[in-house]
Amino acid sequence: MFTFTASCLRKLPELCHKHYVSRTCVKASSRLVLGIETSCDDTGAAVMDETGVVLGEFLHSQKEVHLKTGGIIPTVAQQLHREHIAHVVQEAMNRSGVTPGQLSAVATTVKPGLALSLGIGLHFSLQFVRQHSKPFIPIHHMEAHALTVRMLQPVAFPFLVLLISGGHSLLALARGIDDFLLLGQTLDEAPGDTLDKVARRLSLTKHPRCSRLSGGQALELLARDGDRSKFTFRTPMGQHYDCNFSFAGLRNQVTMVIRKQEQVEGVEPGALLSCVNDIAAATQHTIASHLAKRTHRAIIFCKAKALLPTSNPTLVVSGGVASNQYIRKALTLITDTTGLQLLCPPATLCTDNGVMIAWNGVERLRAGKGILPFDQEVSYEPKAPLGVDITADVKEANIKLPPVKLNISD
Ligand code: KG4
Ligand code: ZN
Repeated sequence: MFTFTASCLRKLPELCHKHYVSRTCVKASSRLVLGIETSCDDTGAAVMDETGVVLGEFLHSQKEVHLKTGGIIPTVAQQLHREHIAHVVQEAMNRSGVTPGQLSAVATTVKPGLALSLGIGLHFSLQFVRQHSKPFIPIHHMEAHALTVRMLQPVAFPFLVLLISGGHSLLALARGIDDFLLLGQTLDEAPGDTLDKVARRLSLTKHPRCSRLSGGQALELLARDGDRSKFTFRTPMGQHYDCNFSFAGLRNQVTMVIRKQEQVEGVEPGALLSCVNDIAAATQHTIASHLAKRTHRAIIFCKAKALLPTSNPTLVVSGGVASNQYIRKALTLITDTTGLQLLCPPATLCTDNGVMIAWNGVERLRAGKGILPFDQEVSYEPKAPLGVDITADVKEANIKLPPVKLNISD
């Protein structure tokens, strides 16, 4: 039985990132990587040394534009990347005090993501590496999210990873920097997408406390003052004993409740409802419960198949939705029950950024994996699975979850 008590949420501790230094600390011998990210709606760049120290970083977020247009319009995202990429990279380089000639490689997200957005980053990067005769390291965006934690502390492989963002929802076992087993993934939309759409349907940009927040941030904020027991949503996929996710059905349930409440309160669609905090709390709770249950099953599966180390087994949670404290707390209760340690990068490194791409470049440079000559042709891939898909094996294991009482409280 899952019972969350949402009151008194404590902010959970998260990993610190102490790896930002002034450029005077750079070891002259260290190899340097420029990382570039444009897979969705953030234009990010960072210069990093071989030890994971960030020498310079810059990020241009398109969030405010997309909030106004009611979602990401790919052509708009593309145009904004096009307008900002040169400046973003230049600013990261300036801040680092590193010249292009001093770089050992350029690492850029080439998959998965929005085709039009990926294209801008890749085109810019290929021009850059050709101009400066530098090796190129193509990066898988989800691999970068999964590995970010290793920049903050030495987390040994294998570890379990839950990646939850606006574009993705997946559970995987990380066995090496380019070696993943995919245990489960979303069958429809990602939790961040659901939160963004629910927030839009609730017109939260009109809410005085939420006008500049992403959907997920807005719902988390409002949920703190809400009573989740006022509305009950079914946790998705209760009869499917695998680790896949589904959020579209939940969004339908929430939309129906919103429509009903608009009638009850006698307001037009688009007006702010008085019960918005309660809807936020119930939605967030159901998403947290779904994520916790699938993660619980993944842990049991990995333990049964001896895929996790017996000493210090770890769950890493990353992606934009991982910055949600309520969801983290739900997952902490699962890791406490199963004896895993839970590690979450700080919020700035959970959302898309150039630092995580530079770090993935460093990991690959150190391991000598996937480093291409500057004149090699590279294409972007909007769809790209992470690792070897063993979701069918997980389903076949047909694992029923033991009852877990989850009380989220101080
Ligand atoms: O990883 P990210 O920056 O971009 C990709 O989707 O790859 O994640 C952005 C997503 C958005 O859907 C946003 O609503 C969600 O992360 N998000 C949150 C929170 N902060 C951002 N969701 C829940 N709670 C939050 N605090
Ligand atoms: Zn992402």
